[in-house]
Amino acid sequence: MALDTQVVFAKPVSHACDLLAVLVGEGAVTAGKISDAHLNDLDRALGGLLGTVAVQEEFTGKEGQQLSLHTHGKVAAQRVLVLGIGKHGDPDRARDALRTAASRAVKVARPAGARTLALVWPHAEAARLQKADGSDELEREVQALAEGASLGAYSFDKYKREKKSLKLARVHILARDERTARRGGEAKARAGLSGAARLGARIADATCLARDLVNEPAGRVTPGGLAATARDVARDTGLAIQVLGPAQIRKLKMNLFLGVSQGSAEEPRLVRLSYVPRAKSVGKPVALVGKAITFDSGGLSLKTAQGMEDMKTDMAGAAAVIAAMSLVPEIAPPFPVHGYFGACENLPSGTAYKPGDVLVGRNGVSVEVLNTDAEGRLVLGDVLAWAAEDEPAAIVDLATLTGAILVALGPWTAGLFSNDDALAGEVQAAAKAAGEPVWRMPLPAEMEELIKSPIADLKNTGGRHGGSINAALFLQHFVGKRPWAHLDIAGPSSLDKEKGYNPRGGTGAGVRLIAEWLRQRAAQRD
Ligand code: BES
Ligand code: MN
Ligand code: ZN
Repeated sequence: MALDTQVVFAKPVSHACDLLAVLVGEGAVTAGKISDAHLNDLDRALGGLLGTVAVQEEFTGKEGQQLSLHTHGKVAAQRVLVLGIGKHGDPDRARDALRTAASRAVKVARPAGARTLALVWPHAEAARLQKADGSDELEREVQALAEGASLGAYSFDKYKREKKSLKLARVHILARDERTARRGGEAKARAGLSGAARLGARIADATCLARDLVNEPAGRVTPGGLAATARDVARDTGLAIQVLGPAQIRKLKMNLFLGVSQGSAEEPRLVRLSYVPRAKSVGKPVALVGKAITFDSGGLSLKTAQGMEDMKTDMAGAAAVIAAMSLVPEIAPPFPVHGYFGACENLPSGTAYKPGDVLVGRNGVSVEVLNTDAEGRLVLGDVLAWAAEDEPAAIVDLATLTGAILVALGPWTAGLFSNDDALAGEVQAAAKAAGEPVWRMPLPAEMEELIKSPIADLKNTGGRHGGSINAALFLQHFVGKRPWAHLDIAGPSSLDKEKGYNPRGGTGAGVRLIAEWLRQRAAQRD
C-alpha cells in the first residue's frame, strides 16, 4: 500500500489533518496529571478534555491503550487519537512499539475515513546519540513509524467484491524543530529524517510485495509467475537477473531440484537476481536464498487436506528474497548481493518422484528420498550449492522448511541455524532491530546419524524428533565451509490471525530483517 509518508516540522496543535495520533509512553497521564509535552499542549488547547477523558478511561499510556475524541475545531486536527506505547528500556523494543502504534493509527484512520494522518511521538532521549553505524536513534524512530504506517495500511482484498477502501493518502510524521536545530546542521538533520521516512516506507512496500506473493493462490503464483515477478522487480530497481528453465537446470546437474519438480506440469524456474555496486573495488558477495515451492501437496507422501490448506505459502522464503533484493539498490552496500531461488511445485502424479528414489545433487551428494514431503531441503540443497559457487562471504537462506519449528517456537518466531557464530550474531542483532523474533537453534554433530542413509550419503528425513534440526543439518551439507545462516520461517511467514502490524495471511517475514542486516553490514564495511 503506497502511502505518501513525509516528515513535517510543525506543532501538533496547529497542524491541520483529519486524524492526529499522539503516541505517549507509560505514565504520560497519572492521576489526571499529564507529563507528556505534546499531550499537554493539546490538552490545554482542548480545555482540559484530554486529561478528563484519560482519567475516565483509565488511560495511562500502557502499550496498546487508546483513546480518541473529536476536537470540534479547538485544534487544527479534526480528531485526536492517543495511543499508549508503554515503557521500554531497550531501544529496539521501543521502536517496535512505535511501529505497532503507527499501524494502529492507520487502522483507526481507515473506518474514520481520514485522508490525512499526522503522527507525533515522544522523541527518544537517545535522539541525539550518534550510533556506531552512523545512524541516529531519531532517524531510526522515524523509519519505524513510516514502516508501521504502511504495514498497517495493507489488506489483501483484490478478490473481494466489497473492499474496505482506504481514503488515507498522506501520513505526516511531525518532528519538532528545536530538536533538529540543536544537533547543528539543521538542513542535514532534516534531510536525514526525510530519508529515514522514505526508507521506512520503501521497506514496508517491499514487505507488502512479499505479503501479496504469499497471499496469491498457487494457481497464479506458479514457478513461472514467481520468476516473472522477479523479472519485474529487476527491471524496476535496476538489478540483473538470470532465469533458467528445465534444460539449463538439467545441465547444472540439479537432480534434487528436478526430482521435486518432475511430478508437476509446471516447468521449474531457477532464478538469480544480482546487485553489483558501481565502485571498482568490491567486496565478496552476500547470497540470499529462498525456498520457492509454489504449492506443496506433499507429493506422493501426500499431506492431509487440512495440512495442504496453507501450502500456497510455501514460497514465502523466495518472496522475502525478491522483496529484500528490491531494497538493495537503495541500501547500496559496497559489496554485491545475489538472490537465488529454485521455484517448482510438489505434486503427486505418474511422473512424480517416489519414496525410495535416490537422487544425486549438484554438489555430488546422494540422497535417498524417504518422504516426498521433505522437498524443501532437496531444492534448497541444489540452490545453496549453486550459490556457494559464487564464493559468497555469507549465505542466508529463508525457508518455510518444517512444521516442527512451529511446535518448537510457536507461530511468531523464526528458527535460526548457523555454522558461524559471528554471522548468527549479526542476524540476531538485525532481527532484534527490525522487530522480527528469531531464536537460535543448535546444529549438533551427533544428530547427523539421524539423516544417514544405508544406501546413499543422506536421507531426506530424520524422524519426528528434532525435525527442524534434521532439516537444517541436511542443508548444511550443501554450503561447504561458507558462513551460512538458515532461517526456518514456517511460523512467522503466515499467520492465522492478525497480530500488531502483521496481518492474517502473508506477513512478509524476513524482509525487514534482511534489509537491516544488509544495512548494518554495509555500515561496517564502508
Ligand atoms: N512446507 C512444509 C513445512 C511447513 C509446514 C510449512 C507447515 C508451513 C507450515 C515442508 O515441506 C514439509 O512438508 N515438511 C515436513 C517434513 C517432514 C516430512 C520430514 C513437515 O514439517 O512435516
Ligand atoms: Mn513438504
Ligand atoms: Zn514445503
